[in-house]
Amino acid sequence: MTVVEQTQGAPRPTPVRIGGARGGPPLSTVLRKDNWRLQPTLTALGLLGFIGYSVWAALRNGDFYAGNVGRDYLSPLYSPCLTHSCTTAGYVWGGWSWWRVSPAWLILAFPGAFRTTCYYYRKAYYRSFWLSPPGCAVPDAGSTGTGRRSRYTGETRFPLLLQNLHRYTWYFAVVFAGILTWDAIASFRFTNGVGVAVGTLLFVVNAIFIWAYTLGCHACRHLCGGNLKRMSEAPVRHWFWKNISSQLNAHHQLFAWCSLFSIIATDLYTYLVASGAIHDPRLF
Ligand code: FES
Repeated sequence: MTVVEQTQGAPRPTPVRIGGARGGPPLSTVLRKDNWRLQPTLTALGLLGFIGYSVWAALRNGDFYAGNVGRDYLSPLYSPCLTHSCTTAGYVWGGWSWWRVSPAWLILAFPGAFRTTCYYYRKAYYRSFWLSPPGCAVPDAGSTGTGRRSRYTGETRFPLLLQNLHRYTWYFAVVFAGILTWDAIASFRFTNGVGVAVGTLLFVVNAIFIWAYTLGCHACRHLCGGNLKRMSEAPVRHWFWKNISSQLNAHHQLFAWCSLFSIIATDLYTYLVASGAIHDPRLF
């Protein structure tokens, strides 16, 4: 066993075992002096808030399309709208009459799978909900009294094995990003012609954030720059990897949150406009 002693800035030296079992020292001897609980707490609150809002929006099963007030706004939580209930809204993507509950449930599964298996969100919920570990240099909540977890299998067994599907969910995410782009274009359409309103801006910003999040995905980055012996063999892929995917990937966490908030904002705004609770000011 190698023992290193922290001698600077601590009243008493704390032995740290290098190469020890996963989990580190017991919580009572965490060396971090900052408020390391803050970030996982805020993350947990943010994710719970989004989940709660999405469930409420899906159960709402109404006012997800603002065609009744002359706007071509379709909530991103209901897009593409595939069921019979959407045909009255003017959108006829599928017209499925056999689907009896909210059409949002059909949609949420795909972006839900993409986000749940995202590398950033994995870190977020492993830290915030499972406390495994809650932060760098902080032991797992499941650690034993000595700060060690007795068994660790990572993502090699069910259900965490499913995290490996992330690269495939990315293809669905690209399709959904394309559909939301179409919705953003449709938001320029009014009953009396083409224009721009506050809602139009929201839809456009939402589509931009969705693309920024999707193209900055680690799977996308690998798709562009991976499996190449020499980048010079694939100049287009190299350009995309270097200038788009890697640039966006550096801010993946930021876009993960921005796109979450933009989805909520766009859905809420559509709901408020469609239900007549607010007026959507036309800018030009
Ligand atoms: S790693 Fe986050 S979306 Fe793929």
